Amino acid sequence: MPTDPPSFSRPSVQGTDRMDVIVKNGTVVTASGVSQADIGIKDGKIVQIGGTLESADRIVDASGCYVMPGGVDVHTHLDSGDFGTKSADDFGSGTIAAACGGTTTVVDFCSQDRGQSLGDAIAYWDSKAEGKVAVDYGYHMIVTDMNDGVFAELATLPDRGITSFKLFMAYRGMNMIDDVTMLKSLEQAKKYGALVMVHAENGDAADYLRDKFVAEGKTEPYYHALSRPPRIEAEATARAIALAEIVDTSIYIVHLTCGEALDELLRAKRRGVDALAETCTQYLYLTKEDLARPNFEGAKFVFTPPARSVEDQEILWKALQDRVLETVSSDHCSWLFKGHKDKGRDDFRKIPNGAPGVEERLMMVYQGVNQGRLSLPEFVDLVATRPAQVFGMFPQKGTIAVGSDADIVIWDPEATTVITQSEMHNNMDYSSYEGHAVKGMPKTVLLRGKVIVEDRDYVGTPGEGQFLKRAKYVRPGKPA
Ligand code: URP
Ligand code: ZN
Ligand code: ZN
Repeated sequence: MPTDPPSFSRPSVQGTDRMDVIVKNGTVVTASGVSQADIGIKDGKIVQIGGTLESADRIVDASGCYVMPGGVDVHTHLDSGDFGTKSADDFGSGTIAAACGGTTTVVDFCSQDRGQSLGDAIAYWDSKAEGKVAVDYGYHMIVTDMNDGVFAELATLPDRGITSFKLFMAYRGMNMIDDVTMLKSLEQAKKYGALVMVHAENGDAADYLRDKFVAEGKTEPYYHALSRPPRIEAEATARAIALAEIVDTSIYIVHLTCGEALDELLRAKRRGVDALAETCTQYLYLTKEDLARPNFEGAKFVFTPPARSVEDQEILWKALQDRVLETVSSDHCSWLFKGHKDKGRDDFRKIPNGAPGVEERLMMVYQGVNQGRLSLPEFVDLVATRPAQVFGMFPQKGTIAVGSDADIVIWDPEATTVITQSEMHNNMDYSSYEGHAVKGMPKTVLLRGKVIVEDRDYVGTPGEGQFLKRAKYVRPGKPA
């Protein structure tokens, strides 16, 4: 597992040794270790770790706390227009929520409409982000409609810092693509330095089952889960990987949920395929039984692929421990219970898919540390370092090292709360984790050396988040 070596040396600081900010008295946690050290910050960068640090414009006291790299969430849907509606969170509220949860970088999905050029899609996404973003951000490009122009445009995206393309194998009529589009995208990604991400579900099989349920009068949210069983995900996972193998390239499976799909990933890894995958917070905590909650409450947990079983949760935790999965993303989707989800009260097919979680992600995954499932460095690796590495942002993001951006979370391991929507900073009317007791919370968050969250409240300036031109994907063992 490539991680950053701890960098506790003292580099020369130009001019005076006076820092802009010193983070003092904390325990520094990176993916490679835990150490007691103060951190000196100048011009938004970490310039010193350890040694004597005394003089600064601002001292942030981290006594009793962990000092960790800001979280990196590589799967958010902000200001989404999917499912024929508009999400509650835009780039403002969504990234303020991210910051308050300890995440300082998000990579959002920029979606091509049918018939639209990729350049126009990016311009539209830029207009959504402009002046609003509270943390640093990048885009993955969702390709829905391939033609010669789009094929040519894909070649130009990595030079613009968009080094990942996302394809859907489900949602016919909305985002679903055919195998030729997949192959063409994989080919261009390989050639120009991008990583293809896939939503792996057999969309036609899911549509067949869900239409059958509805025809039988089974219209409640629970049937969403039954219409998308693990085999539907496992089949598509295997097919996506096979298509990547056909053009001899890498692939990243988004929101992997279950043992059956994981088996396909492991089989591919054993064949030597550079097949990567993430899971998401909701698959570690929710099960398909949550979709059966009374009074239509189950609609809150309608996302795809659906929540699985307690056994699958255990398999996913083990895969995180074994570092078979790269990261835990949020897949933050902000469909309100009242106004969005309730459109499907009489027909689960009309419930917009997705659930919120960008703010809760670090707190929820950290419970794995409390439970002895993850070490502190593994936690940091999963929520910050590894996603930054896979998606071309490391070591600028995802670590605490001299020269890295001073994106820092001061984490209080003793702080407790019970998750409730009223304490979240998004525009939602429910939390996916309402009522979960957590121990360990972000206290102070710095973005490029500036305090943007203090005592869990946002104190930054919307618009100060910067677009990240991400580095090209380099397949292990195959440098460019
Ligand atoms: O249900 C989900 N996950 N909605 C968001 C779109 C996607 O599939 O990632
Ligand atoms: Zn998806
Ligand atoms: Zn998603």
